[in-house]
Amino acid sequence: MNNDILKTLYSEEDIENACKRLGEQITKDYQGENPIVIGVLKGAIFFMTDIVRDIDLYMDIDFIDVSSYHGGTQSSGSIELMKDVDIDVNGRNVLFIEDIIDTGRTLKYLEDLLSDRGAKSIKVCTLMDKPEGRVVEAKADYVGLEVPNEFVVGYGLDYNGKYRNLPYVGVLKPKVYSNK
Ligand code: XMP
Ligand code: MG
Repeated sequence: MNNDILKTLYSEEDIENACKRLGEQITKDYQGENPIVIGVLKGAIFFMTDIVRDIDLYMDIDFIDVSSYHGGTQSSGSIELMKDVDIDVNGRNVLFIEDIIDTGRTLKYLEDLLSDRGAKSIKVCTLMDKPEGRVVEAKADYVGLEVPNEFVVGYGLDYNGKYRNLPYVGVLKPKVYSNK
């Protein structure tokens, strides 16, 4: 699996440092609150489990699953809700934990969904931001690492369901795409 990687963009240490920095900031900003922290499956699984342990607050934890990519490296444009949250968000402070913001469509969909349900506040913490990919206006409140306009894998992010378990974030060799 490691042999398929052309270059490492962010090492395990880079990711760990980003989690610590964001965790501290979130701890300060939410002092005295009891937010619902919602991990966006599946890409954010590792980031979610790491960052919540860097946040010193009482919180509820939940997960939501939306699908937009359908296997390739291009966003399809339409978002589908695959698994909803279990907790009632009405009147609550919601913090989404995302792996990456690219076109911005997923973020917009999630914000609209929970604001319609009466969330008191909605903020977004993303490990990675790919600003050049934006198609709709979307901005994360907490950004760990910025990435160029390339398809990245690892630390939760997949290509055709694979590479999620790489401990770092990297770019695949072109032959991996052409072998598809
Ligand atoms: P949008 O385009 O809606 O994207 O902002 C959000 C979701 O798309 C996936 N995504 C990626 N997945 N490598 C991946 O493995 C990438 O470079 C990439 N860019 C976007 C991801 O699931 C994200 O939550
Ligand atoms: Mg995702």
